[in-house]
Amino acid sequence: MSSVPTIHRALASGFLALAFAGFFFAGLGAYGVATYTPHEMIGSALMVVAALLAVLAIVGRREARQASLVLVVLMLVQVLLGVVGEEVGALGGLHALNALLVLVAAYQAMRGLPLRFPEP
Ligand code: HEM
Repeated sequence: MSSVPTIHRALASGFLALAFAGFFFAGLGAYGVATYTPHEMIGSALMVVAALLAVLAIVGRREARQASLVLVVLMLVQVLLGVVGEEVGALGGLHALNALLVLVAAYQAMRGLPLRFPEP
């Protein structure tokens, strides 16, 4: 049977793959090739996966805890910015920027490493 760290690592790499797909569909939406519906559906699924990752990290992958908790908070902010960004354009811009932080946090969670600034 798979251990919690293995499941966490696999789920985090799945999160990254799905997030890339979400970026792709945001691009299709921007060029008017598709609606934003696939992007929004992927975003909602990613929120659920991020919550699962946080629970799994707390339960059994200590080294991934910090990045997984940061990821779930960033994802809450991401969804919120996605909702209000439709009314206030500047917050929509932050939605795109915050997406980059989401990728970094997910990458570190997958690797089981904390997020920190490099030492000078
Ligand atoms: C991890 C990355 C991302 C996640 C999880 C995410 C998630 C979401 C979600 C959940 C919504 C729907 C909000 C609602 O309920 O109204 C949304 C909307 C939106 N997102 Fe993202 N997003 C991500 C990245 C991006 C990026 C990189 C862009 C563009 C550069 C983008 C552009 C948009 C736009 C334009 C909308 C509004 C769509 C509409 O008008 O219907 N998103 N996003």
